[in-house]
Amino acid sequence: MKNSREQWGSRLGFILAASGSAVGLGNIWKYPHMAGQNGGAAFTVVYLLCILIVGLPILLGELAIGRKTQLSPVGAFNKLSNLSNWKWVGFLGVASAFVILSFYGVVGGWTLKYTLFALSGGFDSLSGSPDVSGQIFSEFIGSSLQPIFWQLIFMSFCMGIIIKGVKSGIEGGAKIMMPLILIILGLLVFKGLSLEGGKKGLEFLFKPKFSDLNPSSIVMALGHAFFTLSLGMGTMITYGSYLDEKQNLFTSAIWIILLDTFIAMLAGTAIFTIVFAMGADPSAGAGLIFVVLPTIFPQIGGGAIWGTLFFFILFMAALTSAISILEVITAYFIDEKGWSRNKATLLFGGIISLVGVFCSLSLGEFNITAPLNIPFFDFLDELASKYMLPIGGTLTALFILKKWSIKKFLKELLIGVKEQKFDKIFYQNVIKFLLIVSALIVILIIMNEAFNLLFPEYLQNAKNGWLLIFSVVVYFAFFI
Ligand code: PHE
Repeated sequence: MKNSREQWGSRLGFILAASGSAVGLGNIWKYPHMAGQNGGAAFTVVYLLCILIVGLPILLGELAIGRKTQLSPVGAFNKLSNLSNWKWVGFLGVASAFVILSFYGVVGGWTLKYTLFALSGGFDSLSGSPDVSGQIFSEFIGSSLQPIFWQLIFMSFCMGIIIKGVKSGIEGGAKIMMPLILIILGLLVFKGLSLEGGKKGLEFLFKPKFSDLNPSSIVMALGHAFFTLSLGMGTMITYGSYLDEKQNLFTSAIWIILLDTFIAMLAGTAIFTIVFAMGADPSAGAGLIFVVLPTIFPQIGGGAIWGTLFFFILFMAALTSAISILEVITAYFIDEKGWSRNKATLLFGGIISLVGVFCSLSLGEFNITAPLNIPFFDFLDELASKYMLPIGGTLTALFILKKWSIKKFLKELLIGVKEQKFDKIFYQNVIKFLLIVSALIVILIIMNEAFNLLFPEYLQNAKNGWLLIFSVVVYFAFFI
C-alpha cells in the first residue's frame, strides 16, 4: 500500500505546497483588514499567540496523524482508533472542505476577474472614486452570470491541477506560485514604502492599540488562526500523508507557520502603505481590497501594472489554498472508495462548483438562506470559520489526548529528528499541556458563541459566565 501511494518529490516541495495551502485569501484579504480594525499590532500579538499556543500543536498533530497512517482524514482516524467513532472527525473534515470551497471558489473567481480588469486599464476610470468603485463591485458580485463564469474558470484551474496528481500537480504548482507570490509581494512592499506618507501605514498596522481590542477580536483572532493555517478539516492530515519518514515534522511545521505569518505581514504592509500614501480610508473592512485598492492604484506611477500584479498574487494564493481543500475530498474517495483521481476530482469539483453558484447568487437576487436573514455565502463562511474548523481542531487535539496517546504522537514526531538525546517525558508533558490548553480555549470560545446565539441574555451576567467557565474546566479535568 505504502509503495503505490503518491508522495511529495522533495521536502521543499512539501513545505511550499503546505504553506501554499496556508497562504490564501485569509492572509491577503482577511488578515490586513481584521488587524486594521481590531487594534493593529495588539490584534497581531493575540493572533500570534493563538498561532503558537493553539495552531502549532494542532498543526503538528495533523501532520503526524497523516504521515503515520499514510491516509486521508477518514481512513486515518479509523486506522488509529481501530474503527471507532473517531472516523466522524474525518467526515467532519470532508464536510468542512465542501462548505469552505463553495464560497472560496466564488472569491477565487473575483480575483481572476479583477486581475484582468486591472490589466485592461479598467481601474483608471475608478481613480479616486470609492463610491463608483463600490457600486461596480456590488453590481459585479450581485449579478447572476458574470461572477459564476469566473468562479467556474477558477474551479477548472483548481481541478486541472489536482488531476495532475500530488507531485506534478499540487507540488509543481506550488513551486511556481509560492516564489512568485513572495517576489511580487516584496516588490509591492518596496513600492508602498517608497511612496510619500506610506510609512504611516506601518504605524497603523503595527502600533499596538490595546483599547481597540475586545473579546470579539480575540475570538476572531482564534478563528483566524485555524483558518489561516488550514487547520481543523484534515488538510494537513492529507498533505502529511504524502510524506515519508525522513522528514522532520517539527521544523516543517515551523516553516509553514513562518511563511504564512510573514506573507500576511507583507500583504498588510503593502496594502496599508499604499492606502495611507494615497490618503484612502484604511478602515474600509472587507471591501478594502476590491473597492478601495482599485481607486488608488491608478494614482501611483505604473498603477495598472501594480494593480494587475496585486490581484494576480491574490489569485495564486487563493488557488494554492483551493487546491488543498479539494484534495481532502479527492483523497477521501481515492483512499476509501478506490475511485480514480480523475473521477473523484471532476465529480466533486463539479458538485462544489454547483453549490458555489448558489453562494454567488445569494449576493444578488436569489438567496436560499433568506429565511435565516443571512446570505448563503456568509452563512457558509461563518459556519466553517466559527464552528466547523475550531470544532474539528479541538476534536483532533482530544483524539490525540484520549485515543492515540501522547507517547505515540511524540514517537511519530521524533521520526526524522536527528538529535534524540533529550528528556522525552518532559516533552510529552509539554505537548500534553499545550493540547489540553488549546482544546480548552476553543471549547470555551465555541460555548460562548453558542450561548450568545441561543440564549443571548445568559452571559450578560458575569456570574453566569464564570459558572460556565468553571463547569467546563471541571468537566474537562475529569474527562482528560
Ligand atoms: N488557509 C487558507 C487561507 O488562509 C484557507 C484554508 C482553510 C485552506 C482551510 C485550506 C483549509 O486562505
